[in-house]
Amino acid sequence: MSTKIAVVGSNMVDLITYTDRMPNEGETLEAPSFAMGFGGKGANQAVAAAKLGADVMMVTKVGDDMFGPNTKKNLADNGIDTKYVETVPGVPSGVAPIFVEPNGSNSILIVKGANAHLKPADIDRVADDLKQCAIIVMQLEISVETIYHVLNFGKTHGIDVLLNPAPAQADLDMREVCKATFLVPNESELQILSGMPVTTIEEAEAAAKSLVDKGVQQVIVTLGENGVLLVETGRALHIDCPKVEAKDTTGAGDAFIGCFVSTYVRSRDLVASLEDAARYASDSITRLGTQSSYATAEQFEQFKATLG
Ligand code: RIB
Repeated sequence: MSTKIAVVGSNMVDLITYTDRMPNEGETLEAPSFAMGFGGKGANQAVAAAKLGADVMMVTKVGDDMFGPNTKKNLADNGIDTKYVETVPGVPSGVAPIFVEPNGSNSILIVKGANAHLKPADIDRVADDLKQCAIIVMQLEISVETIYHVLNFGKTHGIDVLLNPAPAQADLDMREVCKATFLVPNESELQILSGMPVTTIEEAEAAAKSLVDKGVQQVIVTLGENGVLLVETGRALHIDCPKVEAKDTTGAGDAFIGCFVSTYVRSRDLVASLEDAARYASDSITRLGTQSSYATAEQFEQFKATLG
């Protein structure tokens, strides 16, 4: 059985400002530090999975600016198959200005740039390789028509599709979204998708169940420091995560998904994969940056050994 993972998704260059507080309207504020790094939800998830030893292929588009070649090189340096990383002439790469506050919380703006140019026809061109994959992973930083196309492709060819509905988008066609095998929202994304309140774990369970009733096989709700909730037909399971001191939570959800798919395609053990993913995401927030905060397989084993 194939263990190959395809990420059909975004890449961004993260422009990260570490600030003591967010400025008020009209205010100029000095911030202590700045860092630039590779990001984008798709690329982050691909890099996390590859760092853990998974066989990953990325389908994405970069701009023809100075970020494009560096982004492609970064993916390749992390062991990702970049055959389908294309450059879009005359278009800038995706960028994400990010603000991180002292408690590690983040605020993110995204400018899709070349990511918006990944179209259904691009998927058809790589269909033969996608059919060889165990799972296709997507987020919402590319066009929705492409996302719906891949969800239908997965259904037609019997390939699992994981959709991370981030960043949240209110006008999605739920009949299409519910074709996902795994839907992995956080609490606010789940609230928007289900139209139900999600302020407690019980409410998250009810909201996730409403999506399972509409056809999603598994809803996996990431709950930040409260761990993760799996809801599928006949079962709801809450999994805790290790408590750590957060330095930068940016990309923790992506770390979770990268680790989850990496473990799942090899073990097919859903609960063990979720437990590993919760630990991997916790570990990632103890370091600064997005991809730069993701552990290798060896570093992750060392972290797990400290948990006892
Ligand atoms: O999930 C974190 C990511 O969101 C950042 O890397 C940023 O690029 C945005 O896509």
